[in-house]
Amino acid sequence: MGFKVGILTGGGDCPGLNPVIRAVVRKGLLEGYEFVGIKNGWKGLVQADTMPLDAKAVAGILPRGGTILGTSRTNPYKKEEDLKKVKENFKKLGLDALVAIGGEDTLGVASKLTKDGIPNIVGVPKTIDNDLSATDYTFGFGTALNIAMECIDRLHTTAESHHRVMVVEIMGRHAGWIALEAGIAGGADIVLIPEFPVDLKEVCDTVKRRKQQGKNYTIIAISEGAHFKEGQMVLQEQKLDSFGHVRLGGIGEILAAEVEKETGCESRVTVLGHIQRGGTPTAFDRILGTRFGVKAAELIKLKKFGRMVALAGTKIIDVPLADAVKELKLVDKELYDITKVFNG
Ligand code: F6P
Repeated sequence: MGFKVGILTGGGDCPGLNPVIRAVVRKGLLEGYEFVGIKNGWKGLVQADTMPLDAKAVAGILPRGGTILGTSRTNPYKKEEDLKKVKENFKKLGLDALVAIGGEDTLGVASKLTKDGIPNIVGVPKTIDNDLSATDYTFGFGTALNIAMECIDRLHTTAESHHRVMVVEIMGRHAGWIALEAGIAGGADIVLIPEFPVDLKEVCDTVKRRKQQGKNYTIIAISEGAHFKEGQMVLQEQKLDSFGHVRLGGIGEILAAEVEKETGCESRVTVLGHIQRGGTPTAFDRILGTRFGVKAAELIKLKKFGRMVALAGTKIIDVPLADAVKELKLVDKELYDITKVFNG
């Protein structure tokens, strides 16, 4: 009897998911495995919703953003009957192993399941937010970073021509990685991230100082999760998703209004939103996704379950799934302080 492997992608989509799916399948086919695509993350296992996943299904998907399997933010631990279904369907579909590709939520579920009825799971870390512990980088981050950097590059011309403050709000949830690195790469004058609360006076003083120096414009890169020293994160809505996450957004608008009021400089805001998650993966993300996928298939061959593939320096390693999800990887002060050199 053949060895049957299910693959699912959960959480927010990002560029690089398809290269992983392709690599797991291509490497696994060489080992004689059979694959089943589980549609829409954990929801597909709750509903036994699958699609064929063979060499033909993964042909041509390397440069495609998103995920051919679809995704959702379904948490099977929310309802007892869903969890029961996941376990039943794993058996019913005749799965011998599962590759779960996702961020902290999807891998959190995978980690729990390995101790709770489905031990044969291998995890692959994805997220544009780059906030997963135990891996130096997640794929998706590099592509999002390049998009955000290019947007900052483009905002420079209007900032300079109109002598404006241009605020650009960048994704990343509770971690400031995308705003930090896009800010550095794009030459933002001020970078504001959740890890270091925003001092409005300091921001306004910088804008005024730059003006006195003849720099009549300022580009501010701000993470969606950034907040004022005395304030809270700004929420798009009060509703929580099934993993208890809030939807962030709106801090850019508030900051731009405050800066304009305080400095008298005309200010505008651009919210990058899901543009950052779209489009074709960069070469870096295609290669990282491919290396992760090949390693995941190798872990299955070695029966190293309950593990997640990870990047350590230039090497692909494997770590316990539980390590990846125990805490968020945040930006440290040493790195953040680099942005201060360019406050001008
Ligand atoms: O985790 C990836 C991410 O894009 C975050 O940066 C952002 O806060 C969130 O997902 C947005 O989620 P949704 O796609 O559900 O609006």
